[in-house]
Amino acid sequence: MKKILLAAALFSILIPVKGQNIITLYPDSAKEQISRHIYGHFAEHLGRCIYEGIWVGPDSPIPNTRGIRNDVVKALRDIKVPNVRWPGGCFADTYHWMDGVGDPSQRKKIVNTNWGGVTEDNSFGTHEFMDLCEQLECEPVICGNIGSGTVQEMADWVEYLTSDAESPMTELRKKNGREKPWKVKYFGIGNETWGCGGNMTVEYYSNQLRKYSNFVKNYGDNVLYKIASGSNDKDYPWTEHLVDQWANKTQGYLKGYMSGISLHYYTICNNWDIKGSATDFSKEEWGNTFFKTKMMDEFVKGHSAVLDKYDPENKIGLIIDEWGNWFEVEPGTNPGFLYQQNTLRDALVASINLDIFNNNCTRVKMANIAQMINVLQSVILTKKEKLVLTPTYYVFKMFTVHHDATLIPSVVKSDNFVIGDNTIPSISGSASVDKDGKVHITVTNADPDMSKEVKIELDGEKSYKFVRGEIITGKELNSLNDFDKSEEVNIKEFKNVKVNGKNIEIKMPSKSVVMIELK
Ligand code: AHR
Repeated sequence: MKKILLAAALFSILIPVKGQNIITLYPDSAKEQISRHIYGHFAEHLGRCIYEGIWVGPDSPIPNTRGIRNDVVKALRDIKVPNVRWPGGCFADTYHWMDGVGDPSQRKKIVNTNWGGVTEDNSFGTHEFMDLCEQLECEPVICGNIGSGTVQEMADWVEYLTSDAESPMTELRKKNGREKPWKVKYFGIGNETWGCGGNMTVEYYSNQLRKYSNFVKNYGDNVLYKIASGSNDKDYPWTEHLVDQWANKTQGYLKGYMSGISLHYYTICNNWDIKGSATDFSKEEWGNTFFKTKMMDEFVKGHSAVLDKYDPENKIGLIIDEWGNWFEVEPGTNPGFLYQQNTLRDALVASINLDIFNNNCTRVKMANIAQMINVLQSVILTKKEKLVLTPTYYVFKMFTVHHDATLIPSVVKSDNFVIGDNTIPSISGSASVDKDGKVHITVTNADPDMSKEVKIELDGEKSYKFVRGEIITGKELNSLNDFDKSEEVNIKEFKNVKVNGKNIEIKMPSKSVVMIELK
């Protein structure tokens, strides 16, 4: 038991157990903050994410503020979006920011070579993105172009954004209508440089990273948090090379060239060739999806272990800046636009991943779901003036209770469900205590058929009272929200909770996620 307690104090752990579901929480060991940036988003110039999803232009009949949809801004503010990563993705490494500033009628039109070969008219550029962030009251996460852009171009962009001094870049910004610099903390030095961002080896990228970062400056009190382009799923050698260079081949102030390393992992239900339908799937595909998505825990812990080895002081953050379900596109839509519907299955994938990030928050400092609107696992879908809040949206809403709260270490004992070759733990979760002393526990039951009784035991002296509960579930595995229909999946009150001081029992239906608040 001592060993379990020790492990729980360091990380939250999961132990598969036949027929029993017990979550033990250790509130007296709570110390790590769950950064709200774990609840971040990703918006790329891809399909209908930026254009139609966010940007309709100032002359649109769709209600907007300076071209940005009001309904979308309201919905995103309601889930307290902490940051948005932009302009890509693969698009970032073909993006030349100068094309997207100045008089919109004079902006260059380019071909979006990554996504459908469509015309990109650059009407949404730097000023429009920063306006979006100001309307959302969130932080920008800008991904620079290392694949096809120059060092000068990246250095100029940061100067244009953040400098208050007199220089050609600041003069240009003022001429384009923005007198004062913006604050930009998070800046990516390339994206997927092992793939669409330049097809580089890690040795080559590592040198590029050092060079580009060197010329990307801090102006005034704006201090950049530079995010290196990290690995895909379990490419641990990629992470190891980057962090070894940083730890052992760099001296003093030069170490500032990297503050975080990214990790990308998409949940691909079957395989890259047959990704499976987002809505019309079998029980076996349900099993595949949860088996695959739970591998995120292994990858996060694996990369964290590499970072721990070279960075025991925990200075470098793990930034999971692309994650989520990637299915076949909706039939009849442009294959380059990656538009997919979103069901209860997506909601549970979101809750499981967010719990993994919470439980590993010592290292995980940011995560960005791919993508915010109309692309992959979106929180919002739009069709002309209409808007749908997806099941994934409601998970983000439910989990706002964890933003900037303190993680309560936990041990989860879960039974398994078996589908085909996959044996999958049914129960997962995380817990936190907020600044007012309220405890929030989120629990997912991924079993498609069986309801579960879950015991939650709180270690320590303190007794708790039940304040409120919420649940997200649906009638079918593929229940969804669609245009012109009432919502099938959203947040409902959850009362199936018995609290006796430090022992709690909940009975959760199959395929559900619940949140319990205690005081
Ligand atoms: O999110 C879609 C694409 O997936 C991104 O552009 C790229 O970074 C990743 O491969």
